Amino acid sequence: MSEKKYDFGLVGLGVMGRNFILNVAENKFSAIGLDMDAEKAKAMDDEASQHGFDAKGTTSKEEFVQSLKTPRVIMMLVPAGSPVDSVINDLLPMLEKGDLLIDGGNSFYTDTDRREKYLAEKGIHFMGAGVSGGAKGARLGPSIMPGGPEESWQMVKPIFEAVAAKVNGEPCVTYIGPRSSGNYVKMVHNGIEYGLMQLISEVYDFMKRGLGINIQQMHETFRKWNDGKLHSFLMEITAKIFTKKDEYSDQPLVEMILDKGKQKGTGKWTSQNAMDLGVPLMTIDMSVNMREISALKDERIQAEKLYPVKPWKTSLSLDKEKTLMLLEDALYFAYIISYSQGLSMLANASEEYKYNLNLAEIAKIWRGGCIIRAALLEDFMQAYRQQPGLRNPLLSPIIAEKVMQVQGAARQIAKDSLDMGIVMPCMLASLAYFDAYRTARLPLNLVQAQRDFFGSHTYERIDREGIFHTEWE
Ligand code: 6PG
Repeated sequence: MSEKKYDFGLVGLGVMGRNFILNVAENKFSAIGLDMDAEKAKAMDDEASQHGFDAKGTTSKEEFVQSLKTPRVIMMLVPAGSPVDSVINDLLPMLEKGDLLIDGGNSFYTDTDRREKYLAEKGIHFMGAGVSGGAKGARLGPSIMPGGPEESWQMVKPIFEAVAAKVNGEPCVTYIGPRSSGNYVKMVHNGIEYGLMQLISEVYDFMKRGLGINIQQMHETFRKWNDGKLHSFLMEITAKIFTKKDEYSDQPLVEMILDKGKQKGTGKWTSQNAMDLGVPLMTIDMSVNMREISALKDERIQAEKLYPVKPWKTSLSLDKEKTLMLLEDALYFAYIISYSQGLSMLANASEEYKYNLNLAEIAKIWRGGCIIRAALLEDFMQAYRQQPGLRNPLLSPIIAEKVMQVQGAARQIAKDSLDMGIVMPCMLASLAYFDAYRTARLPLNLVQAQRDFFGSHTYERIDREGIFHTEWE
């Protein structure tokens, strides 16, 4: 066994893991990677030596653990769930007090809390660090959301700051907070991601079925929008998706892809947890629902025969240029609403779980590296800097000014979509959320009266304190 001691260890040399470790090595931290699959270990080893990086791959757990400087810093990039527990249990007998294990996967936050407690009893530090940016981000600079004991953060801070994406020279990583806060923030990041992706897909459908725009025009429109206020990673990749030709037909590849949206669970967890917290997430909930309804392909085919779409209005009545401008504004409106829902969820979770989150910092590290990076995050960061205790970004004058400029466009697009039978549930949900949130008196007084009528559930009054019940009949 070699005498060489490495700065950083990484378990799981799939695409993400291999790219992350190469990124670490490129930033002048020596690194060793472990994978039970010899091919993956060798592929990493080969790539590191091609670049002349101080990094190696191994299949030996013993070599891996013994080749690390102490206290050890070991990151796991393995699928969430039982694989994380297996790695922990495999390594644990060889670790020493003071070593740090970091879970970089999309683990469910309560699993992180459980693991941190279990390992703390054995003197091992544990962090859950959300990593966003996909395979390319891992190699060139992801956004990293580390949570756990603050002393552990200090151990890994230089490495994470070096490998993270940079915006204006500032790294897209910050200490998120105690315990599972890093995984929690990543979960909500993914909820926002689901909302934005669905919204973009709705706009694509509107362009296609509502305006009869071809894929080349869509590409040009998205590329143009990406140079404006909608500037974001998801706009950028969508514009690129439209240029890809299918190799088996002369169609654009996107048109040949089955319309069943798959999911690994983070969007659903966001919605489930928001319900537990009592936080409304209408756009994000709807995006999860859309993945679910999309999976019912056979039923949808049957239903379309029973209920053919008969538009009340057709694309012919729409002015293409004007509608495209409205679509851009409508999408911008719905982007703002999606981020606002996610960030307001984080404000609530911060109190509920005592995470002590700094939302200005979170908006800041989401500006680069991650899937939801967007120019808009600069505005959210400024909004939180101006009002650190902001419950919901929609209450910030900075955000309000932007919303007021585009809400009319969202309304027009929503109306047109309903008239044409084009499915835009996330756009409608964004408007519903906005309208409900900005309505000082909602009709829930009647719901209260009904509850009291049939179940003596009582109600409060607008003119005096106390709890009231009425014999309604
Ligand atoms: C990221 C992504 C990443 C992953 C999603 C996909 O931030 O890099 O969010 O974590 O691609 O988990 O999620 P679904 O499979 O649920 O769409």
